Amino acid sequence: MGNIDYDPFGSEVLENPFPTYAELRSGCPVHRFEDFDPAFTTMTRHADVTAMLRDWKTWSSHYGQSPRFSVTGCLFSDPPAHTMYRRLVQQGFAPRVVDRMEADIRRLTDELIDAMLERTGPPESGGMGDLHDDIACPLPVLVIANVLGVPTDQIAQFKLWSDRQVEAMGSQDPAAAAENRAQIDAFFTEQLDNRRADLAAAGIAPDDWNEDALGDSVSDDVMSGLLVASVEGRRLTDPELLNILQQLLVGGNETTTSLITNLFWRILERPELYRELRDHPELDAVAVEESLRFDAPVLGLYRTNTREVEMHGVTIPETTKSMATYGAANRDPAVFDDPETFRLDRDLDHLRRTHLAFGLGRHFCPGAHLSRLEARIVLRRVLERLPDLRLDGPTTRIPTFLLWGRRTIPIAWGQSHD
Ligand code: HEM
Repeated sequence: MGNIDYDPFGSEVLENPFPTYAELRSGCPVHRFEDFDPAFTTMTRHADVTAMLRDWKTWSSHYGQSPRFSVTGCLFSDPPAHTMYRRLVQQGFAPRVVDRMEADIRRLTDELIDAMLERTGPPESGGMGDLHDDIACPLPVLVIANVLGVPTDQIAQFKLWSDRQVEAMGSQDPAAAAENRAQIDAFFTEQLDNRRADLAAAGIAPDDWNEDALGDSVSDDVMSGLLVASVEGRRLTDPELLNILQQLLVGGNETTTSLITNLFWRILERPELYRELRDHPELDAVAVEESLRFDAPVLGLYRTNTREVEMHGVTIPETTKSMATYGAANRDPAVFDDPETFRLDRDLDHLRRTHLAFGLGRHFCPGAHLSRLEARIVLRRVLERLPDLRLDGPTTRIPTFLLWGRRTIPIAWGQSHD
């Protein structure tokens, strides 16, 4: 199979990558792109992407998830180091921990809807907003700030840092992220120092730091949890702490925002779907899962091969960056019927087990349960409070090439103002 003409940065592909993904899947499952330094390959078939994600010995995360080589360590690493960091992070995002946040997430969602309605008057009189700016963007930032333990007055800055890191991921300029990263590190260093001071003020010596020390005089949040955690008989170093906090900050914001915008985009684009969900809110979980399948918020991430690999007759030299394209695998007709249609009548278990929007295997997203919960709550509350919601103009895309979400999604409700 020859190389087809595919430019992941081309404007047509950026606007809608899925037709090209279909061509790649059938005609060029291992695509080589030379117009980037370093040249990279792109895999689009479900079976190939799955095999890559399972075989971490061959497809390493050591050089990071972006198309450029970068060694940051911690979660962007391979076992055994990865296993240790992963265990630590997972504790803070375990389903039983996340489920305790349900009431808070509902309250935050309602406050955001209230603020949107207050700007425009009561729902019956009609109003307009932007689902990205008013709900989908602020909610995950508020939630992750709560989880990590970031003060509320720092949230705007927090979001800006997160966005800049995401932009830098797809950029060709390796220096782009450095200044921003330094600012994030300075902020988290101060936060960690405050917690160390609180522990000292409470008379708890470093040797006695553990989870039980948190709660009374030291805030009980993921940041404190990481600070007092003991791994293999030692504490995490400052560079390790900063690295993990940064990965959590960046990993959870824009992705969850995109899940929410993508979901509403598709169900408002076809108003019969919105009506169906309004009449059958119990379909919320299928709607969220189908959105993840149909519009993967992370279109793909990179691995680097530790040995030469032969795939579909293509030789991939050792240490080549290769994109595992979740967004393409999720529409592979080999695993999903009618893959190019957004449907609410799919089997929930099959969707959950098969789509790759959260990756697979060792690096499977630790924030999956949290972001699913956020999306379901937003969907339910908006369906209940704005039963006649509609799209109010064209939507636009977020710019980063390997991410997929709506940057603007104009909405209206109540009486038409036409
Ligand atoms: C819809 C929302 C989300 C999507 C689509 C998503 C997607 C992903 C994907 C595809 C991976 C796998 C990376 C790989 O294979 O290299 C991943 C890993 C990760 N995600 Fe998420 N994510 C979402 C939400 C979140 C949230 C809410 C958080 C944090 C609170 C988070 C934190 C992370 C972290 C730390 C990793 C690295 C895990 C590891 O390498 O072991 N994500 N995510």
